[in-house]
Amino acid sequence: MSRSAANPSQASAWSPASWRGFPVEQVPHYPDAAALAAVEGQIAKFPPLVFAGEARKLKRALGDVAQGRAFLLQGGDCAEAFAEHAADNIRDFFRVFLQMAVVMTFAAASPVVKVGRIAGQFAKPRSAPNETVGGVELPSYRGDIVNGIDFDAASRIPDPQRQLDAYRQSAATLNLLRAFATGGYANLENAHRWMLGFVEDSPQSSRYEELAGRITETLGFMKAIGLDAESHQELRQTDFYTSHEALLLGYEQALTRVDSTSGDPYATSGHMLWIGDRTRQPDHGHVEYFRGIKNPIGLKCGPSLTPDGLLRLVDLLNPENEAGRLTLICRFGADQVGNHLPALVRAVEREGRTVVWSCDPMHGNTVKASTGYKTRPFERIMGEIRSFFQVHAAEGTYAGGIHLEMTGKNVTECTGGARAISDADLQDRYHTYCDPRLNAEQAIEVAFMVAELLKKERRDVPQQVAAE
Ligand code: TRP
Ligand code: MN
Repeated sequence: MSRSAANPSQASAWSPASWRGFPVEQVPHYPDAAALAAVEGQIAKFPPLVFAGEARKLKRALGDVAQGRAFLLQGGDCAEAFAEHAADNIRDFFRVFLQMAVVMTFAAASPVVKVGRIAGQFAKPRSAPNETVGGVELPSYRGDIVNGIDFDAASRIPDPQRQLDAYRQSAATLNLLRAFATGGYANLENAHRWMLGFVEDSPQSSRYEELAGRITETLGFMKAIGLDAESHQELRQTDFYTSHEALLLGYEQALTRVDSTSGDPYATSGHMLWIGDRTRQPDHGHVEYFRGIKNPIGLKCGPSLTPDGLLRLVDLLNPENEAGRLTLICRFGADQVGNHLPALVRAVEREGRTVVWSCDPMHGNTVKASTGYKTRPFERIMGEIRSFFQVHAAEGTYAGGIHLEMTGKNVTECTGGARAISDADLQDRYHTYCDPRLNAEQAIEVAFMVAELLKKERRDVPQQVAAE
């Protein structure tokens, strides 16, 4: 008997609204229920942001990742912000992302599946419903889709109108990303031009320039033999997908649509959605919502997840064992990976489950700097990624991807890296709305390290394509 059948409450019929019959964590308290319902009704009539066919294409690509034939790069802001919605920010993020992808594709000779934490990453889970500053207690900030970050009573009241703004910002962001991905900007012939001005005098810059030079040389050779970007669109375009934590289920429900081709329900707020570490209770509303949508989905796995707990979730979320459906995004902390990951990997392997293993090296490595800022030491981020690859090498499984909080901006939020940002430097350009992000230079440094690890892994664990 499968574990899911042991959970009768979830054997009942699924609908986009069935999560409402379950306990739900992290729910904002909207004072005006009628206003909330009106907004949700409005969004339910809006055009979908993504198409089911695109989500299926991503699922297939993630199926390749699960089988060790590609690598997943997922990243973006911890939280997108209304006040930061500008073309420059999107472009700067996208170009760093392209640089990272091209470094990994070229240096490790592996296809890279590109998924942004963008165009919908607005809702934040909080450790406490309220926050007290200087003796004043107010509701916590839950992300721009719910309330305002300013510490005053008016901005902290959840306002449903913000969901309309989040939808519109997502649509505009996605529109620009689609243009960048297919309209020429992502052409490999432009690889030299993706370098941002402020990164130019860094050690990462010369490394990148060298690699871009080799790409240019390769493209020149290919052109000479008749393979050029005009005739081969894969050289001038890329597939870029969107993702976010689907925390605000009313909004997600309103954007859930039945795909006319397959007759299946899809979340259309983004291509891939994930469940947070705080909302993954198997008998609660988030898991209920996620089990019914057909998109590729992620599940954040933190230190409190047991092997049995994981298997139960795998059964609920991917009962057909479909490759590419489920990505396990592990976030343990650099010194905890070895204590938690092997048992999870073994349990999944033992049950013959196909998943993508991805490493979130950010959330388990958050510390308070001596200057009071929430930060993440770069060395610990790198350390968690290294340990993640080591565990998979030892278990004979694939390190399938990384999940990063990053920005194209020259911020000072994570300490360390080539420029050795110190606790005292954090105050210079600390702009995040939530958690500290890698800046452009640190993100490229991560990409180079991952490329090396990946090259080694794919050499040591050869793919089982050729018959002996
Ligand atoms: N289409 C291929 C891919 O997406 C090659 C490619 C084109 C590419 N532009 C890119 C790769 C930019 C990385 C970055 O992989
Ligand atoms: Mn975060």
